[in-house]
Amino acid sequence: MRHWIGIAAMLLLMCALAATSHAQPHKVIFDTDFGLPPTDDGWALALALGSPELEILGVTTVAGNFSVERATAEVLKMLELSSREELPVYQGADMPLVHAPSDFARGEYGEWYSGDPPPMPAGGFASKSAESISAMDFMVRTVLDAPGEVTLVAIGPLTNVAMAIRQHPRFASSVKQLVIMGGAIAQLPDGHGNVTPNAEFNFWVDPEAARSVLRAGIPTMLSPLNVSRKTGLTRQWYEAIVARDTPITRLARERLGPRYAANPGRSDLMYDQVAVASLIDPTLVTTQEMFVDVDALHGINYGVSVGGDEPWPGAEGAPRVQVQYDLDWDRFIRMFVERVSR
Ligand code: RIB
Ligand code: CA
Repeated sequence: MRHWIGIAAMLLLMCALAATSHAQPHKVIFDTDFGLPPTDDGWALALALGSPELEILGVTTVAGNFSVERATAEVLKMLELSSREELPVYQGADMPLVHAPSDFARGEYGEWYSGDPPPMPAGGFASKSAESISAMDFMVRTVLDAPGEVTLVAIGPLTNVAMAIRQHPRFASSVKQLVIMGGAIAQLPDGHGNVTPNAEFNFWVDPEAARSVLRAGIPTMLSPLNVSRKTGLTRQWYEAIVARDTPITRLARERLGPRYAANPGRSDLMYDQVAVASLIDPTLVTTQEMFVDVDALHGINYGVSVGGDEPWPGAEGAPRVQVQYDLDWDRFIRMFVERVSR
């Protein structure tokens, strides 16, 4: 009898330990080409800040949607508005590894090449500044201090991550997991590009970085345009967000309100928000394991991501990654609305 009580007590303890370890938040470095909401990076950070499943260790900035200086200024403002100034911010790369600005780039969306000083965010610059070490140094130091524990959420061009991989030979093997918003997979539905016919913005801005990061052997979850195209932030959901009054929803009301008034049928794709949500709750997305590689040759497919069920000639070394292609829209949008308006 005593024997069975001992076994039962041991089982209970194991269940309790399993439950505790399951409840541990993901330790996250949040790497972003940030813009305040309603930019998708801004919404994605609002979602992360409102999610107890994530423990943000630091926010790192990279040139992409805007210059890196502007990204940094706007992250600092976001954290101030959210009363989360304790979170450190590290500035990263101000240019892609190789890709030089061109007339085409300047005519497209994104200001990664801009040398202009950052415009003052609504309400003025934050009183706090970025930390003195670089985004790459912070990534390397943090990951090597806790090997196998840190997840990188990368929702801009992958320049910082590629530079961190180059910086230390044990960095890549010490990252727990990489969640990337990037790419478009023509092999799956809705896989056309959004900058060139087949290239997605984050991968196109820094194709060399995207290729080397994917090939670094880090367990990777890819959130490409295919899954973003299952979303649409319409007026109905905007109104649900701004029904609560917080500094962030006020900002959204100021900036988005006039746009919905001018075009009530407006519907915005949600890119980076899906990547963050998929880490919070992986059951929100449907994935397929594929070999994925990025074309970094300077030709018509520069920056294009290609996914296949089998390796193919020219893509030797392409890794297997989990590719998101569908989403439980109803559960996702309800979670998003509730958490960004907390
Ligand atoms: O292609 C979508 C990506 O580029 C997102 O990360 C978004 O922020 C845009 O700039
Ligand atoms: Ca982004």
